[in-house]
Amino acid sequence: MKRKKFIQTSAVAGIGAALMPNALMAEFSSKKSISIGFIGTGLRGQWLLDLAAKRKDVNIPAICDIDETMIRKAMKILKRNGRKEPQVYQNGDEDFNNLVNRDDLDGVIIATPWEWHAAMALAAMKAGKHVGTEVPAALSVKDCWSLVNASEQNRKFCMIMENVCYRRDVMAVLNMVRKGLLGELIHLQGGYQHDLREVKFNDGKQPYGGGVEFGKNGYSESKWRTNHSIERNGDLYPTHGVGPISSMLNINRGNRFEYITSTATQSRGLHNYILKHAGKDHPNAKVKFKLGDIVTSVIKCANGQTVVLSHDTNSPRPYSLNFRVQGTNGIWMRDNNSIYIEDVSHKPHYWEPFDSYQKKYDHPLWKAFSNDAEGAGHGGIDFFIMRAFIESIKRKVNPPIDVYDAVSMSVISPLSEESIENGSKPIKFPDFTNGKWKQNKPIFGLNDEY
Ligand SMILES: NC(=O)c1ccc[n+]([C@@H]2O[C@H](COP(=O)([O-])OP(=O)(O)OC[C@H]3O[C@@H](n4cnc5c(N)ncnc54)[C@H](O)[C@@H]3O)[C@@H](O)[C@H]2O)c1
Repeated sequence: MKRKKFIQTSAVAGIGAALMPNALMAEFSSKKSISIGFIGTGLRGQWLLDLAAKRKDVNIPAICDIDETMIRKAMKILKRNGRKEPQVYQNGDEDFNNLVNRDDLDGVIIATPWEWHAAMALAAMKAGKHVGTEVPAALSVKDCWSLVNASEQNRKFCMIMENVCYRRDVMAVLNMVRKGLLGELIHLQGGYQHDLREVKFNDGKQPYGGGVEFGKNGYSESKWRTNHSIERNGDLYPTHGVGPISSMLNINRGNRFEYITSTATQSRGLHNYILKHAGKDHPNAKVKFKLGDIVTSVIKCANGQTVVLSHDTNSPRPYSLNFRVQGTNGIWMRDNNSIYIEDVSHKPHYWEPFDSYQKKYDHPLWKAFSNDAEGAGHGGIDFFIMRAFIESIKRKVNPPIDVYDAVSMSVISPLSEESIENGSKPIKFPDFTNGKWKQNKPIFGLNDEY
């Protein structure tokens, strides 16, 4: 794939700076191949491992997981892709430290339970490895700061693997936003509205449903994710919704999130699910869930916009990321695949289908790689996120979704918990860029390569 021209946009200037915004970019040369270690080879880790193993420019000398079954599945994936057996680190919770301290790795992918991401990313950066962490990057404000400091001090990047940023429709809308079609943005919505009841509970043998077990009796995410619904009340999974919104709003690059207010409903769905599937005498019927079924947050941005995020994972409902992007000239809404732009849409006050806009404003990345992305997972977006991680290491450039994005997205969880705990009080976002957001230039989706 030849280097093509960057997209010309009216909203974005200083492309050179966008590619090399900080000290990480001491040199710009590309490596032919790189070596990556994998920490966490559960369901998501296996998927990412398979994508990486399909690339000729990636070696995978080491993997780590504490679960023998998951390691075995990962080994099968590597074998199927014609890969040599990697060294396996499976001696308990802290064995990942031995993986990150190897001297033959350029980067590490982390796909473990949420509570491990920050510690693993920190250890990897301190050991001189670039990081690609699954979402969210951290669970506390303190850990967010530690990631920023470690990335800056060790000059290693910490990319959050927020694949939804690469959705084809979202990237077409980003294109339209940057070309000014929607006017000045004023209000955006996003969220994680996904009935996860059969993920939070299963029979301990397979990942989806079949029982009401979790924790040590569960399988895959029910082993750990369900506990977050018992112990926490907030937007527990904000990054899929807020990732695309962040790039449209130029968060950390000319704009920033200022404060958040969050409000939670009562908690019903998980308890009702247990009653329905196992009856009131099952021991899990006594479990008290702290997480409200629907958590709604409003974020105010420095440039005036509002963002509404929803977290809705405990109720029967179709999947939706709740996207709405509204500017002074028009509005896109994902759920009815519709758009309206003043003086452009044929009939005032009526929605029109998004399809012709999707075609016209398809992002150059998608035009270039749609064949490769096919079958790569979640409609192709996993191809792009993995590619961005690999290409950033190879080219020695800052990744398109960097540590500042990782923490400004992830910190929403602890801030929303604090807001709910305090009667929906507004909570200020820390400025993780230390004022650099005023000068930083946008970096996501600005070229047709990664
Ligand atoms: N971006 C996406 O679309 C997407 C999709 C699914 C999951 N995820 C995220 O990926 C992450 C993993 O989710 P999953 O579905 O694979 O869960 P999972 O439970 O299937 O896998 C997690 C793995 O981590 C391992 N693990 C736990 N503690 C460990 C430790 N100390 N050292 C090494 N390994 C350890 C577990 O044994 C397990 O195999 C989560 O953050 C989840 O939110 C993202």
